[in-house]
Amino acid sequence: NCKVAVLISGSGSNLQALLTASNKTGAPFSICSVISNRPDAYGLARAAAAGIAASVVDHHDFSSRTSFDRALIEAIDRQTPDLVVLAGFMRILTPEFVRHYRGRLLNIHPSLLPKYQGLHTHRRALQAGDSEHGATVHFVTEELDGGPPVVQATVPIQAGDTPETLANRVQVQEHVIYPLAVTWFAEHRLHMQGERALLDGALLPRNGIR
Ligand code: GAR
Repeated sequence: NCKVAVLISGSGSNLQALLTASNKTGAPFSICSVISNRPDAYGLARAAAAGIAASVVDHHDFSSRTSFDRALIEAIDRQTPDLVVLAGFMRILTPEFVRHYRGRLLNIHPSLLPKYQGLHTHRRALQAGDSEHGATVHFVTEELDGGPPVVQATVPIQAGDTPETLANRVQVQEHVIYPLAVTWFAEHRLHMQGERALLDGALLPRNGIR
């Protein structure tokens, strides 16, 4: 059984989707710890309700990104996870951190990467007049939101959409594709090779599977 550490900063709805998936009979993974950089993240209450060890590593307590990331690594490695999952974790990680977990660090980003790396993805998709939008699960590399995609979900953009209505539609899909990708990893079907992702030994398309 694959031990998964989940890093959050906020609501933790993706954490919830992973908790729910991990509680199904025969699930190949379990959540061994939840770590938040914000003491007020609602996801901490979700972890507590699920009886999962949760801790806070508050970035305000550190004078540099390097010292924060080192404390984060210590907190994570204490639980010896096989996989580290970023679920709405809103801090940029140092190359040192990313290298430490290379090949076993996943993120979910609310856009159809490589479109809209960074913040405000829903607003930017609307402003661009796109007809579709979505979310991407990808391996994390040193390039921000630039690591190899694993799986993408698409949603239509509808007349009258606001960033909020669009975000809600995307999140429903996030809660499907993140447990899927984590399940693949836990079943040893998903790997990172160089700058590409492999599923069942086959290179995934550059945008991941849709
Ligand atoms: C999710 O929509 C995720 O894609 C996004 O934050 C939200 C977290 O929601 N992540 C990023 O923007 C990463 N840069 P949650 O806390 O309810 O899972």
